[in-house]
Amino acid sequence: MKKLDGNTAIVTGAGQGIGKSIASALCKNGARVVLASRNLENLKITASELNSDSLIVQTDVSDEDSVKNLVETVKKEMGSVDILVNNSGVAGPTKPCEDITLEEWEECFSVNMTGMFLVSKYVIPLMKQKRYGRIINVSSMSGKRPLPNRTPYTSSKTAVIGFTRTLAFELGEYGITVNSICPGATAGPRIDSVIQNMSESFQITFDEAKKTFTDPSALKTLVTPEDHAALCVFLASEDAVRMTGQDINLTGGLIWY
Ligand SMILES: NC(=O)c1ccc[n+]([C@@H]2O[C@H](COP(=O)([O-])OP(=O)(O)OC[C@H]3O[C@@H](n4cnc5c(N)ncnc54)[C@H](O)[C@@H]3O)[C@@H](O)[C@H]2O)c1
Repeated sequence: MKKLDGNTAIVTGAGQGIGKSIASALCKNGARVVLASRNLENLKITASELNSDSLIVQTDVSDEDSVKNLVETVKKEMGSVDILVNNSGVAGPTKPCEDITLEEWEECFSVNMTGMFLVSKYVIPLMKQKRYGRIINVSSMSGKRPLPNRTPYTSSKTAVIGFTRTLAFELGEYGITVNSICPGATAGPRIDSVIQNMSESFQITFDEAKKTFTDPSALKTLVTPEDHAALCVFLASEDAVRMTGQDINLTGGLIWY
């Protein structure tokens, strides 16, 4: 018997990076996984690598009709949803606040926060019906500490923590837990491009920019998508039944006050 046998999970942004690792770990632990993201080709690759029962639904989380279609399709094909991992996110611009356009600001919030709201809004009624659910929202350590020239990203990730805490209180009586994970800088192409943008924005080398992420941590390292996936399996499982409203750091030991 696997930890998540009998569970159906939706993972947004499952075509690459952290979302792909989370989908794979949920699947290995017995869950049937719904892979939702904008990029269909990447979703197909993820599905073929899972080697297991999964459903692909191409979805733009910032578009309400697209999200409604996701949840309707899941209802029809899978019956219900036990686990929702709101992972989709964009990095937003790297610029001083006064140079950021309203369009750039809104684009970042529309995916990182509004997208999370929309998917939760349409999944919650299904979880309430079952009086069971696990919602895991991917925030960031940058939702808790300053990251100069990244105001849209940091603000959207702080908003995720407020959303999580309030939702945990709205849904506790229905047996639904809601937690955020706060990854530190995570190895992969996305962090490479963030580091590259930083090095250009601050006119420092790539290695100097990278050190600003690794040096402040206890382990002096980036973390990995697999670290976050293991944490998600725990939060989705029976082991975490009394854990809700939390924002859990997974940062290689980077701490701040
Ligand atoms: N990589 C890091 O260092 C790091 C650190 C902290 C937090 N995070 C967060 O972790 C999550 C995953 O990050 P990642 O590193 O895997 O990034 P990534 O860019 O590799 O993946 C992001 C995923 O989100 C999807 N996505 C983007 N816009 C979407 C939309 N409108 N609708 C549906 N899907 C959309 C993309 O298609 C992609 O699959 C993000 O929320 C990110 O902010 C990442």
